[in-house]
Amino acid sequence: MNRKGIILAGGSATRLYPLTNVISKHLLAVFDKPMIYYSITTLMLANVRDILLISSPRDIELFKNLLGDGGKWGIKLSYAIQPSPEGLAQALLIAKDFLDGSPSVLILGDNFFYGDGIQKKLLDASNREKGATIFGYRVNDPERYGIINMDNNGMVKELIEKPINPSSNLAITGIYFYDAEAPIYAHQITPSPRGELEITDLNKSYLDRNELYVERLGRGYAWLDLGTHESLLEANQFVQTIEHRQGRKIACPEEIAYRKKWITKESLKILAESMLKNSYGKYLLQIINEFEYEDI
Ligand code: TTP
Repeated sequence: MNRKGIILAGGSATRLYPLTNVISKHLLAVFDKPMIYYSITTLMLANVRDILLISSPRDIELFKNLLGDGGKWGIKLSYAIQPSPEGLAQALLIAKDFLDGSPSVLILGDNFFYGDGIQKKLLDASNREKGATIFGYRVNDPERYGIINMDNNGMVKELIEKPINPSSNLAITGIYFYDAEAPIYAHQITPSPRGELEITDLNKSYLDRNELYVERLGRGYAWLDLGTHESLLEANQFVQTIEHRQGRKIACPEEIAYRKKWITKESLKILAESMLKNSYGKYLLQIINEFEYEDI
């Protein structure tokens, strides 16, 4: 199945002002790499190699400068503009021609996923051809998110966008797997009172058809959204802590591409040598020598 990826990296990031007055939040640092690396590598772990990155007219050129056509990481990156932030579901409309009838996976550029086994979780969702799959994660502050209400049999009862009095702690995370119908359903939804095409309304279209699947990410996973000063700092500290302890990088696209055999040893060496003055480049060189002994 040729599932294509969409990364939504526009928005206005008002909660991060003044950090984001002149630059996209997705280009800010999460410890040793730009935030956008985390969503790109999540898609790479799901074996999605054909990816459309959507951003604002102000920022799109910066992404092109940083990432290029993706060839250096064995993936194919295309770009599209969202003229103004009119909602997450608009991504499916903008991506319609790019998708060209393929199933998709949409990820928000400010979401961070981490945990042993995440790759299998993503691949299982990706292999489901029909319907949509969303991921639920227990949070302390469900009122900030779309939430999922389940019945006693573990079936989805309802989805509620940013409830004032949440009846569940299960938040909908920012990664969504859709079948080929998603752009058609996205066309049928209308803007919410806040003027946005809501992703929750798109997910409800699948729920109404009994085609919405929910996977739970349990407490052994980390899901962070990076949209506030506090959560951004927490993510920086989280990545620094794990990387320092293990000597292994989180969300290193060069490493993932190499371990998946999408790029050669020679290509990785060239990437490493362009950064040898810092620990990132030295890490890539180290990976070349260790490759025989370890899987991702
Ligand atoms: P949000 O965090 O909901 O919005 P925002 O990034 O504009 O931030 P703020 O609330 O501080 O003003 O967006 C979630 C992600 O989706 C983020 O990566 C930006 C992206 N996004 C778009 O690309 N287009 C949109 O229309 C919206 C609503 C969000």
